[in-house]
Amino acid sequence: MSDTPRQILVTSALPYANGSLHLGHLLEQIQTDIWTRFQRMRGHQCIYVCADDAHGTAIMLKAEQMGITPEALIDDVNREHREDTAGFLINFDNYYSTHSPENKQYSELIYNRLKAAGHIAERTITQAYDPVKELFLADRFIKGTCPKCKAEDQYGDNCEVCGATYTPAELINPRSAISGATPVNKDSVHFFFKLSDFDAFLKDWTRSGTLQDEVANKLSEWLDSGLQEWDISRDAPYFGFEIPGEKDKFFYVWLDAPIGYMASFKQYCDREGIEFDAFWNKDSKAELYHFIGKDIISFHALFWPAMLSASQFRTPTAVNAHGFLTVNGKKMSKSRGTFIKARTYLDHLSPEYLRYYFAAKLTSTVDDLDLNLEDFVQRVNSDLVGKVVNIASRCAGFLTKKFDGKLADTDAAPELTREFMEAGERIATAYEKREYSRAMRDIMALADKANQYIADKAPWVLAKEEGKEAEVQQVCTAGINLFRILVTYLKPVVPELAEKAEAFLQDSLTWASSQSLLLGTSVAPFQALMSRVEMDKVNAMIDASKEEQAAAAPVVPKGPLDETPLLPEIEIGDFSKLDLRVARILKADHVEGADKLLQLTLDLGGETRNVFSGIKAAYDPKTLEGRLTVMVANLKPRKMKFGMSEGMVLSAGTGGSDLWLLEPDEGAEPGMPVR
Ligand code: MSP
Ligand code: ZN
Repeated sequence: MSDTPRQILVTSALPYANGSLHLGHLLEQIQTDIWTRFQRMRGHQCIYVCADDAHGTAIMLKAEQMGITPEALIDDVNREHREDTAGFLINFDNYYSTHSPENKQYSELIYNRLKAAGHIAERTITQAYDPVKELFLADRFIKGTCPKCKAEDQYGDNCEVCGATYTPAELINPRSAISGATPVNKDSVHFFFKLSDFDAFLKDWTRSGTLQDEVANKLSEWLDSGLQEWDISRDAPYFGFEIPGEKDKFFYVWLDAPIGYMASFKQYCDREGIEFDAFWNKDSKAELYHFIGKDIISFHALFWPAMLSASQFRTPTAVNAHGFLTVNGKKMSKSRGTFIKARTYLDHLSPEYLRYYFAAKLTSTVDDLDLNLEDFVQRVNSDLVGKVVNIASRCAGFLTKKFDGKLADTDAAPELTREFMEAGERIATAYEKREYSRAMRDIMALADKANQYIADKAPWVLAKEEGKEAEVQQVCTAGINLFRILVTYLKPVVPELAEKAEAFLQDSLTWASSQSLLLGTSVAPFQALMSRVEMDKVNAMIDASKEEQAAAAPVVPKGPLDETPLLPEIEIGDFSKLDLRVARILKADHVEGADKLLQLTLDLGGETRNVFSGIKAAYDPKTLEGRLTVMVANLKPRKMKFGMSEGMVLSAGTGGSDLWLLEPDEGAEPGMPVR
């Protein structure tokens, strides 16, 4: 290897600690793991760390919903994430949590440095606030009726029905998605990171080979339109780190999340006796790479390098973004059973199938990657089982049976072995550049050649011929050596297959192994290296994913209290302001042009009132005439499109056809007060 050893620190994005890992997370971790295994095979020091991203409102609320502390929730999830990633052979050097003393220390350190250098601004902002839960509401925690298409139950920033985007203030009848209460506006002091101080730095940094071109181009649009200040604080209650020197103010989860990379590495350093500063000092010669999905680029390619640079730390060597995983050409879907959890996959299939399939499709771009399940079965079977493993299984038997496992002393196919060796640098370059699909294509083209060689020489025919013994041994030795080189090239992708091959070859494979041959040594009896993928297993996995989805549906039946939670307590004085009276419906009519209203003429016992009421979907007006009901008699008259409405009748239910008019028992008379 001509390379001098490099010092490399690599990360995958920190998965949120509020849910299970799915195959999308695994796409990223497999991409990263292949790269780190490759670097280690090349003889470099390559440390791979990750952690759970444990802070934020979502985790706080989920724990509350489950009736446990956030600490207990993140511990459980951490255990599950570790088991799942181990199942996929992800070789982390350390897997930690952002809810750690190390992370608190570095978050405070970085914040204090930013503040001391004048990069933190303080400003009062007005935000939606849930008066029942007593917390500020992010847009996604506000629901209401879309101002554009009037679809009900839409999120605070966009409508899933018509696609409109808006601010929560524009929602009709906004509600807190947490308590159902109507949000109120409330002021609060927030802290901001002045990103625009780093405008020049970022314009330079994003163009210095740290990002993929397509990513840099996208970012330059933002950089050109001017950088906004970044709100890095959240009010209590919040699960996170309190901001030093402030009361009831917490770091926004995205401030301490990337610092979690440092914290996980710090824990590793303390355990392994490695010098932290050598990797993070401003003038560090070590390399630092972050592997992330395309959805979190701005955090890693704008905020993060600016924070690091402002606090006297080194910045990343590169940020490697990948696209999103789709399944059978579509976004992963719970109802189709294609939202596949890591554990569900592992219950049915071997991790190496997926590692190989992802490798065969991964490039260095941010294009989405499709897991087509039929193609998956076909590709793995034809490439790994049909091409690679097949070489060994065709040759091994003769060596074991006829030659006691001994390999010949000479290379019978020097041209072919040379070609295989020479491919090494080309394949290494593809790995280095994250062009795994190119590497896999190259490797499989070589595998075809090895199979062709064996087919041409047909050792099974030679074995039956007299005096051809030496030739059989030589052909099989060449075959085994070609297999050995291919397995070396594939080792970052299929480490377990490689391990089994190593036991068979009685050799341990580093990248340098691809440049040598095994001659005159012995191989162990051959054992199956990999079995075929069966479509039945894939289908069973999809069925299991569908079942999980059904089981995860809410266990408590939805009742009126879930749909319309109780309002905050009021004083008796508040109630006595309402003047409720019995009224008789004298007349009920349709209103021309109104699709929800009926026009009611009400007798209050000496006075009549005209009231427009939204009960059209629930009642035929003719059936209402003569009936008694209850009305709010002192409601200030409201001018409506169709005339004045002088009061309001009371009914139960949530609206639409789901309405029941209140009616007093027989004997009540119009005008009687209702208490
Ligand atoms: N917690 C943040 C990351 C903080 S990093 C300092 C987060 N977590 S996540 O769990 O939502 O996502 C973790 C990683 O998985 C991200 O890089 C994200 O892009 C990636 N993926 C999540 N779903 C994915 C797919 N469907 N496909 C590919 N990658 C996806 O973001
Ligand atoms: Zn809409």
